[in-house]
Amino acid sequence: MKTIIRLLAGSFIILLSLIIFTSCARNSQSSGKYNSFHPGEIWLDNNGVAINAHGGGILYENGIYYWFGEHKIAGKAGNVAQVGVHCYSSRDLYNWQDEGIALAVVEDDSTHEIAKGCILERPKVIYNAKTGKYVMWFHLELKGSVYKSARCGIAVSDKVTGPYTYIHSIRPNREAWPVNVLDIHKKPYNTDANAAFTGGSLPGHPDTLNILGRDFAAGQMSRDMTLFVDDDGTAYHICASEENSTLHTSALTDDYLATAGKFSRVFVNRFMEAPAICKYNNKYYFIGSGCTGWLPNAARSAVADSIMGGWQELGNPCVGPDSALTFHSQSTFILPVAGKEGAFIFMADRWNPENAIDGRYVWLPLEFKDGRIIVQWRDEWDLSVFDK
Ligand code: GAL
Repeated sequence: MKTIIRLLAGSFIILLSLIIFTSCARNSQSSGKYNSFHPGEIWLDNNGVAINAHGGGILYENGIYYWFGEHKIAGKAGNVAQVGVHCYSSRDLYNWQDEGIALAVVEDDSTHEIAKGCILERPKVIYNAKTGKYVMWFHLELKGSVYKSARCGIAVSDKVTGPYTYIHSIRPNREAWPVNVLDIHKKPYNTDANAAFTGGSLPGHPDTLNILGRDFAAGQMSRDMTLFVDDDGTAYHICASEENSTLHTSALTDDYLATAGKFSRVFVNRFMEAPAICKYNNKYYFIGSGCTGWLPNAARSAVADSIMGGWQELGNPCVGPDSALTFHSQSTFILPVAGKEGAFIFMADRWNPENAIDGRYVWLPLEFKDGRIIVQWRDEWDLSVFDK
């Protein structure tokens, strides 16, 4: 009898420990204690709140990753900037601590360039070793301009997490010709064709229309964008220009606060958006998308020996089910994993324009295979995939 009681008591204790253990594991998950990535699922920060950093980019410094992205609010209203740029920090890439709003929109002056209600997208931050400043660039559409301004906003801070001070906005490369300018660009632009043109798609080839020439005096258009710092410290701004028909790659000035006037037109008439760049084994790799607004399309990839051009397109890097829609997402950044040679994470947004705050993040490992880059879907994964 005593043995049976002892056995029953033993089983009860084991059962109780199991219940306690599972509930602790669940709690730690909800407070953000992750040890793997779950692409497309809600991702909680250290306060148990869903991470709010869309169209983002990451800066790595002294063992810490800083994730900057668009802070969205609920509903359709969240598609315009109501709050600003949110920053999070992490040591392991799985668990993110809320660092607050790094750059706030201006609430008390509706004429300010970053007034609440402007469009502020795809913020990226880089560190300038010469000036000791953190420099943020983003796609800015002035309030009410509905994607007509196509400008770059620039802000700086002495501290990585901010607060960032807004400097101004620019149209890049004003009165500068690209390194690969054509004769046609220097001729007067085609006013007849441009008169009929309202944006979004083009009634002809961007060179026949001469959109580059049209914008020479005012500065070139800049919508979806990213920044990339090369090994020699030169920073580049890569953006969708010429009514989204063509990307421009521009070297920045030494202080990273302006374009230096040296730029090239790439992927002419390919209508690429959402540019992201990485460098591996002395080659530059590019991932972008087609132009379908918030709706996903097939990603594009390319490789080049120079960041200024000579891109060879490599097709859709995504493979497997849903690859034709980039797993229902759109590229935003390629993150080099610190201390792991050849380890890069493809970062993308699964937009939700009806309820902007509920846009999700799709992070997947990038693989280099036979001269191509490959992205495969995984329901769950961790950084050990890079050790194989
Ligand atoms: C996407 C772009 C987003 C946002 C959206 C608006 O193509 O990548 O950043 O601008 O269009 O429709």
